[in-house]
Amino acid sequence: PQRLPFANAPDSDYAQAEIRDRAWQTVSQVRQQLGQSYQPWINGEFVSTQGTAQSLNPSNPDEVVGTVGLISIEQADEAVATAKAAFTAWRQTPVAERAGILRKAAELMEQRRHELNAWMVLEVGKPLRECDGEVSEAIDFCRYYASEMERLQEETAYDIPGETNRYHYQPRGISLIISPWNFPLAIPTGMTVASLVAGNCTLLKPAEVSSVIAAQLAQILIEAGIPKGVFQFIPGKGSTVGAHLVKHPDVHMITFTGSQEVGCQIYRDAAGLQPGQKHLKRVIAEMGGKNGIIIDESADLDQAVAGVVQSAFGYSGQKCSACSRVIVLESVYETFVERLTEAVRSLNVGDASKPGTQVGPVIDGKAQQRIREYIAQGKQEGTVAVELASPQPGYFVGPIVITEVAPDATIAQEEIFGPVLAVLKVANFDDALRVANGTNYALTGGIYSRTPSHIDRAQVEFEVGNLYVNRGITGAIVSRQPFGGFKLSGVGSKAGGPDYLLQFLEPRTVTENI
Ligand code: NAD
Ligand code: ALA
Repeated sequence: PQRLPFANAPDSDYAQAEIRDRAWQTVSQVRQQLGQSYQPWINGEFVSTQGTAQSLNPSNPDEVVGTVGLISIEQADEAVATAKAAFTAWRQTPVAERAGILRKAAELMEQRRHELNAWMVLEVGKPLRECDGEVSEAIDFCRYYASEMERLQEETAYDIPGETNRYHYQPRGISLIISPWNFPLAIPTGMTVASLVAGNCTLLKPAEVSSVIAAQLAQILIEAGIPKGVFQFIPGKGSTVGAHLVKHPDVHMITFTGSQEVGCQIYRDAAGLQPGQKHLKRVIAEMGGKNGIIIDESADLDQAVAGVVQSAFGYSGQKCSACSRVIVLESVYETFVERLTEAVRSLNVGDASKPGTQVGPVIDGKAQQRIREYIAQGKQEGTVAVELASPQPGYFVGPIVITEVAPDATIAQEEIFGPVLAVLKVANFDDALRVANGTNYALTGGIYSRTPSHIDRAQVEFEVGNLYVNRGITGAIVSRQPFGGFKLSGVGSKAGGPDYLLQFLEPRTVTENI
């Protein structure tokens, strides 16, 4: 069987006026389409629901982006039954055909790049350039996992004289995807298409606040030719429908990305055997981070300031990979803080649908309130170096840098998921590593240094899934920086990496005496 090579999709080149203009015109055009209704896709049909939820533009909550139908428990059960019925045919569908559907979806995403960007700008308040990177990542996931499945379909022979031993993979069965809102296209795409191409019938339950973008993804998969029952789009409430499906005896695996609290709950719930359940469930849970960047005395401070600002305040700090602690050696502490403060002061905070915005809103009023509480706590725990104003009327939180924070302070330990950066002073490099490792998380981390021995030590001792040296710590690229953490940041192999698809497959050995 043939394996097609993989290449990363390039981002839009906004230096070209024509591309930039088209991107912003599309935002205006998509704005004219706001307020429509979106329905779940179950058993090959759009179905009506009793419950609905409105998705609002966080830059301007008076703007209703769309109304999304929320499935009931009965509809969730129907979706599982439909998936079961579709499984035999899907598992027998040749890999080339399954991979072809992913590649078609990638092509549709490329054609709709500006449109998808615009939906993200308006539904989750993400600035355009970051949305564009996300579309590239979603396209990459489709093409990469297609190519990976073509690699994995090859049977391995461990034959000896008189006996053949053949090792191959089969799909696991019914697969539930539960996605977060902060990468509303790339993450649900990656998890869903990995599951599908491996031959599993797959149910996608997106985060409530980003269901309209998820509906665009569903539309793309449908247009790409995914058979009925094989993929189903099931927006619904996590705490009710999501929790019900996690415990459903016919679900074989759950792929979750989201908060530590919910991830741990799913891990627990999925472990229990339900009446009639004949298998143990596999859970992939990618969770939060409390990511730190170390700045040592040899760091290029211009480079470090730029990397820290982008990593801490890109998408308002709402990335699992975001930097929320910067750990600075005391010999460069004053100079670094001074330069960092100046850089943060110049950030342009505002409506994500306005060109020039660098930091948009946070996702909703609840998040805004939670982050403000952390800021109030942080002001007790350190000294404010800079705090920008929060524009009105959206869910804005002005970026803030709090210095002189102790390693065990709440804002140095808990994931805030907002534009709040704690600066910690350390005496030497040993302390820097100790402080960097002193949380429950291990997702991303960084070091700015020109000292080879420090870089070498960080590579071995800095406990993170993704370590970045002399660059920012966000924006992992498929098949270049396979992404994911350990400790309480998650369980599972890295997204966009060579082990990812194996989680969606069951290995088998067939031995024949000849
Ligand atoms: P969340 O945990 O609140 O929600 C994630 C999903 O879980 C949503 O679809 C939600 O509806 C569902 N859910 C909620 N309760 C549930 C339950 N009891 N049973 C089943 N499903 C349930 O997370 P969020 O606010 O959407 O996302 C932000 C979090 O995601 C942050 O902690 C961030 O660090 C993390 N994240 C991690 C990664 C990673 O790769 N490690 C990537 C992106 C985001
Ligand atoms: N994969 C995303 C990043 O690296 C979360 O920023």
